Amino acid sequence: MNLPGEIPLKLLSSEPTERFETERLAQQYRLSISTSFPRKSDIFLRFINDVLTLVVQGLQDKVATKISIDFLSGHSGYRLQNDLRIGTPFAKAIGIKKGVRPTVCDTTAGFGQDGFHLAALGCQVTMIERSHVIHLLLEDGIRRGSRNPKFGKIFKQRITLKHGDAIELIPKLSKFQTLYLDPMYPPRKGSALSKKNLYLLRHIVGNDLDSTQLFHVAQRVDPARIVVKRPGKIAGIGSVPPSFEVAGKHIRYDVYLPPYL
Ligand SMILES: C[S@@+](CC[C@H](N)C(=O)[O-])C[C@H]1O[C@@H](n2cnc3c(N)ncnc32)[C@H](O)[C@@H]1O
Repeated sequence: MNLPGEIPLKLLSSEPTERFETERLAQQYRLSISTSFPRKSDIFLRFINDVLTLVVQGLQDKVATKISIDFLSGHSGYRLQNDLRIGTPFAKAIGIKKGVRPTVCDTTAGFGQDGFHLAALGCQVTMIERSHVIHLLLEDGIRRGSRNPKFGKIFKQRITLKHGDAIELIPKLSKFQTLYLDPMYPPRKGSALSKKNLYLLRHIVGNDLDSTQLFHVAQRVDPARIVVKRPGKIAGIGSVPPSFEVAGKHIRYDVYLPPYL
């Protein structure tokens, strides 16, 4: 089968690693492999130098946009090496304190930046992602991260990744101390994800119009806290006001404490 949204998995060279990884992935998820040469305007998944990459051709400019997940470079890599403070708005909102590392379910994993940061800070994190394509990219980032001699244990010991809809999954999973929600919200300036990445994420996953439903399910699961990430001025997702807010530079975290209902 093809991935939802008609995004094919392509094998375009006979390079051994590309062939091996493509066949492994296809077998694991029962995906068909396409060997047809991409069109001018095309979107597909392909292993490039052992990295599962979403390639988008014909977007705005002539250069193909390539998206992959590498937790150990870019912003997440920088934070891992240089900024594991526990006094940040995000860490405070999650409930991290000296000697306290809550178990967290990141119900909207996306590119895994937030979930990985929490794992790097020492939390046990379960990431849930419902988009098949994004889940595959995440899994590949975790696969490569696990091989790192210095940081591999963060992936192996503290991160669990699940594919599915958190609305259905969280009532079935064991209890977490903190449920974290970061659904898509309207485009805005100064987003953490680059404009192109955000544009593509929106194109692939849509607008998360059921985030209120996710919040209500989170309330029913009754964790020690629910944390919802929102851009500064955008309304919260629940019908009740949060117990308190933690303000970041461009975003805020709405923190809900029990009793919820
Ligand atoms: C804004 S992104 C999250 C970004 C993420 N916090 C990060 O640091 O990279 C939202 C993601 O949540 C996923 N999502 C939204 N609702 C979901 C649900 N009910 N279950 C699982 N995934 C969900 C979307 O598919 C999308 O990939």
